[in-house]
Amino acid sequence: MGHKVGIIGLGYVGLPLAFTFLQRGYSVIGVDLDESKIRALSNGQSYLPDISDETLFSYVVQKQLIVTADYASLSEVEAVIICVPTPLTPLHTPDLSYLVQVGSALSKHLKQDQLIVLESSTYPGTTREVLQPLLEKSGLKIGIDYYLAYSPERIDPGRSDYTLETIPKIISGITNRCADKVFGLYSTVFAEVVLVSSPEAAEMAKLLENSYRFVNISFINEFAMLCDKMKIDVWEVIDAAKTKPYGFKAFYPGPGIGGHCIPVDPLYLQWSANLLGSNSKFIDYAHSINISMPNYIVGRIKASMGVSALVGMTILVIGVSYKRNINDTRESSALSLMKIVIQEGAHLSYSDPLVPEVTVNGETLMSLELNEQNLSEADCVVIVTDHSELPIQLILDHSKLVYDTRNITHGLSGKARIIRLGTGI
Ligand SMILES: NC(=O)c1ccc[n+]([C@@H]2O[C@H](COP(=O)([O-])OP(=O)(O)OC[C@H]3O[C@@H](n4cnc5c(N)ncnc54)[C@H](O)[C@@H]3O)[C@@H](O)[C@H]2O)c1
Repeated sequence: MGHKVGIIGLGYVGLPLAFTFLQRGYSVIGVDLDESKIRALSNGQSYLPDISDETLFSYVVQKQLIVTADYASLSEVEAVIICVPTPLTPLHTPDLSYLVQVGSALSKHLKQDQLIVLESSTYPGTTREVLQPLLEKSGLKIGIDYYLAYSPERIDPGRSDYTLETIPKIISGITNRCADKVFGLYSTVFAEVVLVSSPEAAEMAKLLENSYRFVNISFINEFAMLCDKMKIDVWEVIDAAKTKPYGFKAFYPGPGIGGHCIPVDPLYLQWSANLLGSNSKFIDYAHSINISMPNYIVGRIKASMGVSALVGMTILVIGVSYKRNINDTRESSALSLMKIVIQEGAHLSYSDPLVPEVTVNGETLMSLELNEQNLSEADCVVIVTDHSELPIQLILDHSKLVYDTRNITHGLSGKARIIRLGTGI
């Protein structure tokens, strides 16, 4: 078989993971059902800013990377890593339909000695209670004929100080043999692997990490609202507090937490707890703060303009991805904020160098160029995402009013009146 791995789901997690294996000399068979992704990758076109077309193209040309929708091609790999979405249903419960689809399809092609690793974030028990029974339809026996492991993905897209190889990797197996197998593979690729005693512990560790961020960012957003009331600069307060060398970790306010992970994973935990008649009040409260942020920001904008409604106003939103330097708009608070602005009767436009178009309330908008005219025509420019490339001085020199949710304008000035979230101004 040689050094060949399969990766199912070539999205924000699966594609960078494929690259990590490719860089280590592995051949990779990537399986995805999205034809447009297969087409783009086969032509050497990357859809992630962190991955260059050039490198991708060289792997494709050398046939070190093969992308396909055909699960049968996985029969020649030693390990298959699953990176499919684990979103929420409209009722805010876990939607494991992608994973179930993968498990069923994979069971038809599972081969003797193969290692299967689940990387999608999910509630404790998913690997053992949902995936294992599906794979056993193959007739193969776990720990003897095939191996099953769970290793949560910790990638932070857009980040360059930590790469996939240097972020310690939590691993776990259903049996000891399964744990040995995943250790054997992952220690050839990742600088540090951290073995825990069960997939449940590994699944729960991921939920702890993301719930911790969810609760703490929501707390600092509530704190920012208090600072607004008290007319104290929350950013200065955080900078002062973080000089304490122990016992304090800085989190920063913003327009609300987005993305496929941090607002979603805690609700997987909540669902799991509810099954046992339990509940996390912290998660409930953090969720309510988080979804209230876009409304709060629109309220502050109206107050600063001295109006009770935005009807007839022109609002220009800058940045619609859920965080800086990436093109992912899933669960982005910018979209909720834009919806409110439209409902208020304002004329809405947006600009995001990484997101050429978005659909809000069924209406597709195209990203505007940031120039003197577009900026000066807006009654208020709202900075929602602080991409590194933003022409911040141009924005401050030509806008009437800038509402900054990220503190990117700190210490800067221009013609515009500048209001920063959490400063009371
Ligand atoms: N995005 C992140 O920053 C991040 C970080 C850590 C963990 N995670 C977790 O990783 C998992 C994947 O997230 P993502 O952001 O990469 O999602 P994504 O939507 O970007 O990518 C998932 C890919 O899976 C493909 N897919 C869906 N069903 C399939 C099937 N049956 N067979 C083959 N391919 C299929 C989709 O077409 C898509 O390309 C989720 O559980 C997520 O919570 C994401």
